[in-house]
Amino acid sequence: MCGIVGYLGEGNVYDILIKGLHRLEYRGYDSAGVALVGNDGKINIFKTKGKVSNLEAFCADKCLDSKVGIAHTRWATHGEPSDTNAHPHYSEDGNIAIVHNGTIENYKLLKDALLQHGCKFHSDTDTEVLAQLIEYIRVTNKCSLLSAVRQALKQVVGAYAIAVVEKDNPDTLIAARQSSPLVIGMGDGEFFLASDATPFVEYTKECVYLKDGEIAEIRRNEPLKITNLDNVEAEIDVTTLQMSISQLEKGGYPHFMLKEIFEQPDTLRDCIRGRVVERGARININGVNDHKEKFLNAKRIIIVACGTSWHAGLLGKYLLQDMCRIPVEVEYASEFRYSNPVINEDDVVIAISQSGETADTLAAIQIAKNAGAFVFGISNVVGSSIPRETYSGCYIHVGPEIGVASTKAFTGQVMVLTLLSLAIAQLRQTMTQEQIADVGKAVLKIPTYVKRVLELNAKIERMSLIFTYARNFLYLGRGYSYPVALEGALKLKEISYIHAEGYPAAEMKHGPIALIDREMPSVIIAPKDHLYEKIVSNVQQVKARGGNILAIVTEGDTEISKLADHVLEVPEMPECLTPIITSVPLQLLSYYIAINKGKDVDMPRNLAKSVTVE
Ligand code: F6R
Repeated sequence: MCGIVGYLGEGNVYDILIKGLHRLEYRGYDSAGVALVGNDGKINIFKTKGKVSNLEAFCADKCLDSKVGIAHTRWATHGEPSDTNAHPHYSEDGNIAIVHNGTIENYKLLKDALLQHGCKFHSDTDTEVLAQLIEYIRVTNKCSLLSAVRQALKQVVGAYAIAVVEKDNPDTLIAARQSSPLVIGMGDGEFFLASDATPFVEYTKECVYLKDGEIAEIRRNEPLKITNLDNVEAEIDVTTLQMSISQLEKGGYPHFMLKEIFEQPDTLRDCIRGRVVERGARININGVNDHKEKFLNAKRIIIVACGTSWHAGLLGKYLLQDMCRIPVEVEYASEFRYSNPVINEDDVVIAISQSGETADTLAAIQIAKNAGAFVFGISNVVGSSIPRETYSGCYIHVGPEIGVASTKAFTGQVMVLTLLSLAIAQLRQTMTQEQIADVGKAVLKIPTYVKRVLELNAKIERMSLIFTYARNFLYLGRGYSYPVALEGALKLKEISYIHAEGYPAAEMKHGPIALIDREMPSVIIAPKDHLYEKIVSNVQQVKARGGNILAIVTEGDTEISKLADHVLEVPEMPECLTPIITSVPLQLLSYYIAINKGKDVDMPRNLAKSVTVE
């Protein structure tokens, strides 16, 4: 949510910043801007409403010479998307410029105090308040920029990642973080700064993740220095990135989303690698092996997550209860944090997050830790906050997900939850060795089966034309297919802006059945499982009311295929693995409907990839 880029070095500052902003555009794209400090003792700030490409057009005839710069792509929190509210913001005297990700909760209080001191404000943002506060302290206390930033941040309540530059000082860049990610790329005589490592991966693989409460002092031709808010020097922990540049490009696909859907056979293979061993007979999850007693003694599991990750979490409930016979609760992290939750020391809390930075999920983790529970994280982004804040965990290893609508991360999360359930079942002996091996062997086949499902691509593209102009959709499923229905509906609404509701198929008759007519398609997820006969009845109920049915069924299905208007067949799998197989056609369906409607599938309106605000 909002992307920050900074650069200090001998390279072309503007080009590096703009390229970096494009990489971070998935984090927010309602406005963008750059601040460039030149040799002439000036900061040139260019900013515009809209995407980074608008900013580029705006900058085309500007003087862009610079020694150090900061840049930002915004997802609005305080103030509407506009040129004025776009970052960077600056102090009234034009001495400093700042970019900020996060929210300053006490900004009104700080603003009132600054107004009393005669400061004037030009935007509605909390960030401008921070800019004015830093400069006010610098001037009043006659101190350095670094010291002013430190003093200002001590007054701030809220979340921030900031980068600050000063007019007369083209050799310095100051950055700080609290609950919002920031990483420093360490090049040869150059430093990069960004919300994640993607803007600088082609320049350097060495980086330092800033921790909460740390301030980085980046100076030309000097080593990086990191201190905390009390000016105590921190250790510099350099990480080597595993990411490659090809993972950040579209690789011949028209959109990241389509590329990411098609990557799933490979991403699932990466996710499984080393975790299903002895040809499927044994499951090996280090995060479980290292904390066996926690999983053996757990009386309850609580899953916290948001959005698509919550849907994966709901599948986790079915998987864990089936395989491990432990009671499981699944909570929206945003509700959990304010629900005065009852958490016991023998609870295991599983936090799921693709980005590893979701603010509500991080807050839920903190509450669980404070209550003494064991917290396990499932995340995709190596080095992000959630893996660092949890006691143990498991990466999904699906590579950077750039499309805002989550696809390969969802199937990766479901796969990890499946493996985690098997590993706990192995430990608690709630499944026989034979049962584990049956599922383990099927897991090894999943990448090949997903590849087969992707062969439906052309059929789904054609089929999508029939549904493009529907105004409402109902997605129905039972058991393992119910969370798949929720996820299918979410995918459709977020990228095509068509209203879609996911429902447990049997619950439909308690209300939504009133909506059914020829105009409203019902997408029914009905693979061969122990609820198959039950869902046949639900399909008949829709059919009897003249509903238009698209069914996802197992290859060779006859019963539902006869009733449905349109059918997509997927390979047969053990019931617990069907969600991975059935969710893929739904991803493609949403993608093509959105494309038919001319929507920007990679950057849907109002959304951002990494939701680092409440
Ligand atoms: C939907 C989507 C969102 C995220 C949600 C949580 O396609 O991407 O619903 O799943 O914002 O994000 P993470 O998983 O990063 O915590």
